Amino acid sequence: MEYGPAPESQKEAQAWLDQQGRKFGLFIDNAWSEPGELFASNNPADGKQLAELTQATTDDVNRAVDAARRAQPAWQGLGGHGRAKILYAIARLMQKHARLFAVLETLDNGKTIRETRDADLPLVARHFYYHAGWAQLQDEEFAGHRPVGVVGQIVPWNFPLLMLAWKVAPALAAGNTIVFKPAEFTSLTAMLFAHICVQAGVPAGVVNIVTGDGRVGEAIVKHEGIDKLAFTGSTEVGRIIREATAGSGKKLSLELGGKSPFIVFEDADLDAAVEGLVDSIWFNQGQVCCAGSRLLVQESVEERFLAKLRARMDNLRLGSPLDKSMDIGALVDPIQRQRIAGLVEAARCEGCDVYQPAGCVIPTDGSWFPPTLITGASTSAAVAQAEIFGPVLVAMSFRTPAEAVQLANNTVYGLASCVWTENISLALDVAPAIKAGVVWINTANQFDAACGFGGYRESGYGREGGREGMYEYLVPLSEDQRPAAPIAADKGKAKAAAPSADPFAIDRTAKLYIGGKQARPDGAYSRAITGFDGKFLGEVGEGNRKDIRNAVEAAHKATGWTKATAHNRAQVLFYIAENLAARGAEFAERIAAQTGAKNAEKEVQAAVERLFYWAAWADKYDGLAHQPPMHGITVALNEAIGVIGIVAPNENPLLGFISLVAPAIAVGNRVVVVPSEAHPLTATDLYQVFDTSDLPGGVVNIVTGSADELARTLATHSDVDAIWRHDGSAAGCAEVERLSAGSLKRTWTGGAKGRDWFSTAQAGGRTVLAHASQVKNIWIPYGV
Ligand code: NAI
Repeated sequence: MEYGPAPESQKEAQAWLDQQGRKFGLFIDNAWSEPGELFASNNPADGKQLAELTQATTDDVNRAVDAARRAQPAWQGLGGHGRAKILYAIARLMQKHARLFAVLETLDNGKTIRETRDADLPLVARHFYYHAGWAQLQDEEFAGHRPVGVVGQIVPWNFPLLMLAWKVAPALAAGNTIVFKPAEFTSLTAMLFAHICVQAGVPAGVVNIVTGDGRVGEAIVKHEGIDKLAFTGSTEVGRIIREATAGSGKKLSLELGGKSPFIVFEDADLDAAVEGLVDSIWFNQGQVCCAGSRLLVQESVEERFLAKLRARMDNLRLGSPLDKSMDIGALVDPIQRQRIAGLVEAARCEGCDVYQPAGCVIPTDGSWFPPTLITGASTSAAVAQAEIFGPVLVAMSFRTPAEAVQLANNTVYGLASCVWTENISLALDVAPAIKAGVVWINTANQFDAACGFGGYRESGYGREGGREGMYEYLVPLSEDQRPAAPIAADKGKAKAAAPSADPFAIDRTAKLYIGGKQARPDGAYSRAITGFDGKFLGEVGEGNRKDIRNAVEAAHKATGWTKATAHNRAQVLFYIAENLAARGAEFAERIAAQTGAKNAEKEVQAAVERLFYWAAWADKYDGLAHQPPMHGITVALNEAIGVIGIVAPNENPLLGFISLVAPAIAVGNRVVVVPSEAHPLTATDLYQVFDTSDLPGGVVNIVTGSADELARTLATHSDVDAIWRHDGSAAGCAEVERLSAGSLKRTWTGGAKGRDWFSTAQAGGRTVLAHASQVKNIWIPYGV
């Protein structure tokens, strides 16, 4: 059977572009600026110019930020219902003009009309509806929070309008104002969206859209008037943004690249899995951050599955994106085509087998690439590791479920994954073991506004969609109540006090605590610790880079803690509290000797209570079961991040330490802690408490010494997944944020401000739990 052409009309979209004079200025304060220095936006399917857009200058970005700043208080003041009405109006208008948007998107991006019409636009409308709902419920469901303020949003070209909706809808719902930058290849639907904003009654200055290339993005990133940045794009630029914002206090969410595994077990419905794979890797020509670009198929069915796949590939139709019966459209730009072709050629030269359907006719104009299957690549080959961002699938095989998981996790990324099997027990066993923010079981590339989306590891952090997505655009009011500086001023860093007067006294140097054992510091040096009054109190080991490495290794090995039940973790925390309470007087005395605190008993009591608090939370921090518009459920699990490096505060050496360590381990993380540099003896006294409380070795590791030096090592260690620094050092916090960019660790830093560690509002609650965990969404469709 042959298909006839089924073109979608582009008349209305072209007429709209004509109406605009095919030249666009910037949309600032609900007004269009005169077009400035122009750059072209071309149709990727034929290379023809569609329109010209303005390259915004730094002055333009300043104007946009000023407008957003001016508009923010009134937008917030409008209240949840006021904002809900406007978001609802946007949703309605997006639906009304859905076809115009879909055609314009297809013209500008090259993706097929089937996708823009049936996937992008319905999801865009859904996002605005859903977030109109959150605006309405904000006072009730997000009580105790305020909007962040002015938000800078930068998106890529692969889902121009959908990424706009994912960013704009929650930001507006929460009461923020926006400076938005579309990608330079694909700005046209954002221009049309600006008109929708005006029609929907969005007040001036609430949404500002500036166009241009990375330089405009950079100006937004560096602007002091921006309170939060939300970025989707390459991991490389994500790193640049993390470094550029280090120490600025800007909130940051990054949705970056991926190399997502698509796992097919031998008992899978192979025909369905082939269809899933088509949706996974050839959707939007594979220019999808969560594309299932690594096929892992069980050896016993490999040959059969690949034969089916090749047969299906032979039937994929590539051609005019406006033709309603096309499967594969054009790549966004010739530069992407060159990149993809280069990677495929390199694989061919390395001896890989490259399959492309013989009958696939490539149009002469525009930028295209045929669906491609690569077999025979080694796990370390560039095509198996790099994000190709094109219609290229790399296939490998595995024998056992354990091997499948190992191969799936053999990547620096962790955005998404697919698991295909008819055995639900196997699927739900494998899903938590995959390090990725999304797991689709027997389905692929499903999205919904109610289900958070975002990555693990170098795929970034932060979530878009769901309740967790709203928190990205909110700040707890308790953060505003934090004291300007640490409450109990640091009574002085460890001075070079004379050690013990008696050189023959028994050495009482507190050692380090690694893997559940006391360990001598690698450098064999120690530092003298003095009390508030300058008196010598004891010595602690001077930890170094090697000690941190050992501690991280021990923490890595303690995986049993993460797999333990929450009930079990809660019990251990209660037991630590009990044992600490039993030695309360001794701890109080030690705190008083170090800090001079008059009420040290109060600190011990508060630490005991804090342990109870996090023990209580340990088995109550449940996830959610979402019911997105599909026949099935999406289970959102709160998972541990892995190994967290913690630099504890100097004030309240016991309570501060416990307030950070307890929530981290309550949800299953293992930690490497640098205790208070000034008053470390409380932490070293805890070794015995831990030893007698059934805390498995390696869950809490303690390395004493220079906070700056040890934090630096933690921040650059590639096996540390997150770093928290709360010792009041602004420069130190900025440094760990900057260094965290290397492996895109998550960070939680306190900056120069203090924190009232006695206050549960400031040192407890879901905000802390969110820092200690990451949400994984597991999509489970059902039905026969
Ligand atoms: P990119 O990361 O350079 O661009 C994304 C957005 O960031 C664009 O709006 C761009 O103008 C802006 N940008 C660029 N440099 C910036 C800077 N220094 N500061 C602030 N903003 C900046 O991605 P690009 O060049 O479009 O694509 C290159 C590769 O990145 C792709 O081949 C693909 O592998 C990956 N990518 C991944 C995406 C994802 O969704 N994970 C999306 C787009 C690209």
